[in-house]
Amino acid sequence: MTDLDIRVLTDDQYRAAHTLFRGTLHHGPANDERWASVVSSYEPGRAWGAFAGDELVGTVMSFPSAIAVPGGAVLPMAAVSRVGVRADWTRRGALTALQRAQLRSFLESGQVVSTLRATEGVIYGRYGYGVATRFRHVRVRRAGAKSRLPVAGRVRLLEREAAVPVVQAVYERVAPRRPGTAARWQGWWQVNVVQPPEDENLKFAVASGPDGDDGFLVYKVTPGSHEAGNERPAVLTVLDLWTATPRAWADLWAFTLGVDLVDEIDAVGRPVDEPLDWLLVDRRAARVVSEVDETWLRVVDVEAALSARAYRSGDPVVIGVRDRVLPENEGAYRITAEGAVRTGEEPDFVVDVEVLGAAYLGDVTFRSLALAGRFTPTSREAVDRADALFAVDEAPWCGTYF
Ligand SMILES: CC(C)(COP(=O)(O)OP(=O)(O)OC[C@H]1O[C@@H](n2cnc3c(N)ncnc32)[C@H](O)[C@@H]1OP(=O)(O)O)[C@@H](O)C(=O)NCCC(=O)NCCS
Repeated sequence: MTDLDIRVLTDDQYRAAHTLFRGTLHHGPANDERWASVVSSYEPGRAWGAFAGDELVGTVMSFPSAIAVPGGAVLPMAAVSRVGVRADWTRRGALTALQRAQLRSFLESGQVVSTLRATEGVIYGRYGYGVATRFRHVRVRRAGAKSRLPVAGRVRLLEREAAVPVVQAVYERVAPRRPGTAARWQGWWQVNVVQPPEDENLKFAVASGPDGDDGFLVYKVTPGSHEAGNERPAVLTVLDLWTATPRAWADLWAFTLGVDLVDEIDAVGRPVDEPLDWLLVDRRAARVVSEVDETWLRVVDVEAALSARAYRSGDPVVIGVRDRVLPENEGAYRITAEGAVRTGEEPDFVVDVEVLGAAYLGDVTFRSLALAGRFTPTSREAVDRADALFAVDEAPWCGTYF
């Protein structure tokens, strides 16, 4: 590996790091107005730089968050973002050095897991990140798309200022009910909702029923054109939709289907088990455009993570864990319906920490992972025991982009 110095960034280095990161995605620097909004999302001790001498050539950072896990516990989670190495320094170990430093700092500061979104599927497995949730992009052809359910509550549009506190309160109440969801930090709200980039003409709809506000939708509409030779559909994009009750869910979808001068509805980043097709009179009005990896999850503290989540009933299993980056995690863990503890017993099978991260929230079974050669099971029966314990009711989903 090239001789690089890995250091925590000081606040006078955040803007250069942000510019460097944006450059690795082929974007220009944030202007002063945007930077004024973004700067608050950098927090002391959470951004790292790889330096060649005095020159910053790579960066990673993380936001302070928490993740809901099966059974309802909410664990300290580092939300990793803004990862980039300057094009003239790639493939010389900069990211590897940054990842190692960052993961160790997570362990030392009590983070139980870290998560991220990956630009490419080949980058993060080597550092122990596994795909723990997936999301869907669904497109609805609006002509003739109709909900089977009558509107039962009320949906009202609010201006941004009035909407933000309502949306935040509903999110904080509703989101932790589903495993995989993330606590949204102040900077997230600031950059995405309070002061998003100028072209985001966001609209806010709130659903309420007998118990008050119990759902919200954030959306935008990109107008279409009927000009000859330049036709394009008007698209309503569902950016953020969370509901506390089945009624609020059906009402907000009915509202969405009813907005005039819209040809298509694009619901991006939705849970894989959202039954939108079943809601529609003509299920073929909705189609899944893609279903891809969402959360890459790294179990930072294996014992804390395994003991915090709930398990279904079933016979115990002992899982061995290999972790080359954080060897403290290596060992065997006995998992029962009552919980998980570290043990000196011989494991039933051994997995890399990446495989554990993928299976942790219950999105993929150990059986599938074994079939795909991601670990070598000693017996099918032991894998079935693990799957019975790790099974979940709802597909895990994050729904927060960072
Ligand atoms: C992804 C990125 C940060 C990797 O940085 P890097 O310093 O080149 O990574 P490293 O040199 O530490 O690579 C470690 C290993 O991962 C591999 N790797 C890293 N990025 C890869 C990529 N994009 N495609 C294929 N392999 C990759 C390297 O080949 C190397 O493999 P090896 O250990 O077998 O030699 C860098 O390519 C980048 O900035 N890309 C553009 C921005 C981006 O996608 N950021 C990620 C946001 S989630």
